[in-house]
Amino acid sequence: MSAEPTAPELEGFEQTLAHDQRIEPRDWMPDGYRRTLVRQIAQHAHSEIIGMQPEGTWLTTAPSLRRKAILMAKVQDEAGHGIYLYSAAETLGVDRSDLTEQLITLRQKYSSIFNYPTLSYADVGTIGWLVDGAAICNQVPLCRSSYGPYARAMIRICKEESFHQRQGFELLMTMMNGTDEQRAMVQESVDRWWWPSLMMFGPPDDASPNSARSMAWRIKRHTNDELRQRFVDMTVPQAEALGVTLPDPDLRWNAERGGYDFGEPDWDELDRVIRGEGPCNEERVTRRADAHREGGWVRAAAAAYAGKQATSA
Ligand SMILES: [Fe+2]
Ligand SMILES: [Fe+2]
Repeated sequence: MSAEPTAPELEGFEQTLAHDQRIEPRDWMPDGYRRTLVRQIAQHAHSEIIGMQPEGTWLTTAPSLRRKAILMAKVQDEAGHGIYLYSAAETLGVDRSDLTEQLITLRQKYSSIFNYPTLSYADVGTIGWLVDGAAICNQVPLCRSSYGPYARAMIRICKEESFHQRQGFELLMTMMNGTDEQRAMVQESVDRWWWPSLMMFGPPDDASPNSARSMAWRIKRHTNDELRQRFVDMTVPQAEALGVTLPDPDLRWNAERGGYDFGEPDWDELDRVIRGEGPCNEERVTRRADAHREGGWVRAAAAAYAGKQATSA
């Protein structure tokens, strides 16, 4: 796996991509491809793990045992997603403890959406519906990503994300069929989460310089704007079925294009949140750092046990 490719190595890599086949961990790959994947998969893994926090705060105050069981299962799924993805990253020669270190020292990022607070139980439904819904739009094409371990991890993750999306929608539908107060809670929640959900697809294509490279390498299959459009087109009929209003006066069907026109998200807000100035950035990273430190004894015990098993075998 030298950085200086021989002609057959580079050609082999390019042929694999051209035939839409998978690059596997032992195959030769360009350094930039490896670096891009490590960054993307680590960022994705961190998002799954940090993403447990906003909803996790509602586990102790869920309104019923049924809602608590559903939320518990969902939050545990997100932990599982993080773990699959750290494993996928490790096939590229990095170590998950280094990745965690980079997260808690702010050298690697996670999705901006998790820096917003969850202010009511309706937010649990809205996150499932909109945030997991946006994640599905982003992630389904990654099941065909050129890097084998990443693509395979995404297949199972996407199945679970679709459960998350449905449980969110079902929770909101239940509330919309409830009292006026519950309906108002749902609307208020959707008003807060709509625009940040659109920002989950990243900046507009003309401000996303790395996209072209990732698409040429077939890590990414669609541009940010294409995925955002797909999400809006999927979500508007669902909002109508729920009976909520999406907070965008420019949202309307465009028969010519066969898609919805919609307004511009506040890109300055996205920049601020990415820079660390979102409402909950500090809280999320501090909590993750504390959990990592407090879990040190568990990792040490597991490693000691594994060592003992290895010597007694
Ligand atoms: Fe997830
Ligand atoms: Fe999810």
